[in-house]
Amino acid sequence: MDFRIGLIHGDGIGPEIVDEAVKVLDAVAEKYGHHFQYSNLLLGGASIDATGLPLTDDTVREAKTCDAILMGSIGGDAKTSPWYKLEPSKRPEAGLLGIRHALGLFANLRPAHLYRELRDACPLRDDIIGEDGFDLIIVRELTGGLYFGKRETKEVDGVLTATDSLSYNENEIRRIAKRAFEIAMKRRKKVTEVDKANVLDSSRLWRKITAEVAAEYPEVTYENMLVDNCAMQLVRDPKQFDVILTENMFGDILSDEASMTAGSIGMLPSASLNETSFGLYEPTHGSAPDIAGQNIANPIATVLSAAMMLRYSLNLDTEADDVEAAVQKVLTDGYRTPDIWSEGTKKVSESEMGDLLKANI
Ligand code: IPM
Ligand code: MG
Repeated sequence: MDFRIGLIHGDGIGPEIVDEAVKVLDAVAEKYGHHFQYSNLLLGGASIDATGLPLTDDTVREAKTCDAILMGSIGGDAKTSPWYKLEPSKRPEAGLLGIRHALGLFANLRPAHLYRELRDACPLRDDIIGEDGFDLIIVRELTGGLYFGKRETKEVDGVLTATDSLSYNENEIRRIAKRAFEIAMKRRKKVTEVDKANVLDSSRLWRKITAEVAAEYPEVTYENMLVDNCAMQLVRDPKQFDVILTENMFGDILSDEASMTAGSIGMLPSASLNETSFGLYEPTHGSAPDIAGQNIANPIATVLSAAMMLRYSLNLDTEADDVEAAVQKVLTDGYRTPDIWSEGTKKVSESEMGDLLKANI
């Protein structure tokens, strides 16, 4: 079949990890007789350098013609990069928030799964990990809350004061809650809604609406957890979680924590979906400008993001399984990029990892 895939290479290690993922996608296309037509899209720092803006109408227009988008990562070193001398709305991150909003990508799925082979890279104790490790997914609301609330910095009675407002309406909560319950139905049928309902009105609305949605899914175990407790539970007993459903900011923070428990932030993919099958797929990690250009980054998170893209947007389950199996095989064979390397395993470069994954398709 023919598919049109938008590629956002982005900044830092972004271009290299996308190139490695494309190697794997090309191997998939060849094996299964598909044709992937790639379209390069500018976003973030690369877009600022080329056009002066972190996101242009051209990128949004072109993105809408694609079946899905695979992204590396955007952003630079905030201390040294000239991008951070620009006003906040013109910086790389504003481009990412802008494209999420423009494409209506409200559902952000961030799985955290500990591969058996990476137990040594996991900072948690053996008895916490347990025999079978853990396998959870964070379903993060992505186009509301603090990230998209009213923002201003001004003097109030001669005192510099900054305000960020946090608001959610019931429809925004309901549609993401439905996604979370649908996902739970295909997994271990448990949803933990995470909030700060002991303090925030918006969190109390999250509890009310998610409880209503939960009533439509009687097979799914539904519970509520305060976000501070959840941060603690993630390292105390991650096995208790199946689907974690939460708002934008809490999901941002908890997903970094969860990724580290899975051994390395270099392992975790993500999907950002709208109401249709369209989605933007990116590793959970950032652009790591400090290691860019050294051929040492871990491309697995991006390759697994490509697998999610095959599954969710292109409806190619067998092909997605194949990519995930290739990752599993390469780990079983003992190959590791530096971030997940441990004594007794074979250290490989980023491009060698890409070649190994490709060879296992
Ligand atoms: C993420 C990132 C972004 C976010 C940044 C780069 C704006 O941390 O995707 O988790 O906060 O959503
Ligand atoms: Mg983040």
